Amino acid sequence: MSSIMNELEKAPQSMTSQTSPRHFLDIADLDSKTLRRIIDAAHAMKKAGKRVPKELRPKGIEDLVLAMIFEKPSTRTRVSFDVAMRQLGGGGLVLNHTDLQLGRGESVADTARVLSRYVDGIMIRANAHATLMELVKCATIPVINGLTEKSHPCQVMADIQTFEEHLGPIRGKTVAWVGDGNNVAVSWMHAAVRFGFELRLACPKALFPEDEAVAWVIREKGRVEIGTDPERAVKGADCVVTDTWVSMGQSDAGKRKKMLAPYAVDAKLMSKAAKNAIFMHCLPAYRGHEVTEDVLEGPQSVIFDEAENRLHAQKAILAWCFGA
Ligand code: CP
Ligand code: NVA
Repeated sequence: MSSIMNELEKAPQSMTSQTSPRHFLDIADLDSKTLRRIIDAAHAMKKAGKRVPKELRPKGIEDLVLAMIFEKPSTRTRVSFDVAMRQLGGGGLVLNHTDLQLGRGESVADTARVLSRYVDGIMIRANAHATLMELVKCATIPVINGLTEKSHPCQVMADIQTFEEHLGPIRGKTVAWVGDGNNVAVSWMHAAVRFGFELRLACPKALFPEDEAVAWVIREKGRVEIGTDPERAVKGADCVVTDTWVSMGQSDAGKRKKMLAPYAVDAKLMSKAAKNAIFMHCLPAYRGHEVTEDVLEGPQSVIFDEAENRLHAQKAILAWCFGA
């Protein structure tokens, strides 16, 4: 375990140095080696349990406080980050944006500079990715992306951990994404490139992942296929993933539900995957919409391991962010 932390602490990072904080903004921003070390640390964190041993904690964690800003609702991200900080031995502050002056017009830049004087890291769930980037520009402490409309990297780190727990190393395996080409799908695309697995997405054309993510995958020569046929995507896959049809902040629910109806994950679709395939969903799930009750509650579903692993992956991400 100690060797993992030693490695984490000396991980080469183009984005980091003694003077620039280690931000965790997108899986695409980190190199494969660093990401692998974070996942290995997440596995070790889980094994270690509630009392994280000294070897896995970043130095001086008992003096560190993480501020968690929420512009959107959250159950898993909110609780797992807070508990992760406690289990690591540090402290956390949950801040709803409407309770902050930010909610009544104080700039993100000023908020970032003020918080940087009080706390040691900021996790933000932001309405707009631009808010996250503005925070990063002005903060002098690590910033973590706790979901924006563009990506959800912490979720997919926990998903990679979950996949590996059930099916072994993810490199070379196949994952199928069925449904909306949303923020979580984009982080899966980033992960496919960095962790070296094949990702097949099936989405209605109008809901394909955004161009920027597609262009990035092409540039990186990732094994990512994007089409409209769920059966083609799922055929022989080791893992089938979906997410809500209506993400937070989206208003066109009726239109989306109509477009996405043929993309519901049901037992028939799951039967096209590999025999031992697992089913994942980041939650919250809407039974009878993106997934049927029997699949969500069935033997292939690992959704609660996935939710639990948010905690362990978070500890590993925080340890890396505070490890410089
Ligand atoms: N999966 C996820 O991020 O859940 P919350 O919205 O509850 O944080
Ligand atoms: N795509 C969903 C994920 C929720 C955790 C959303 O952005 O609302």
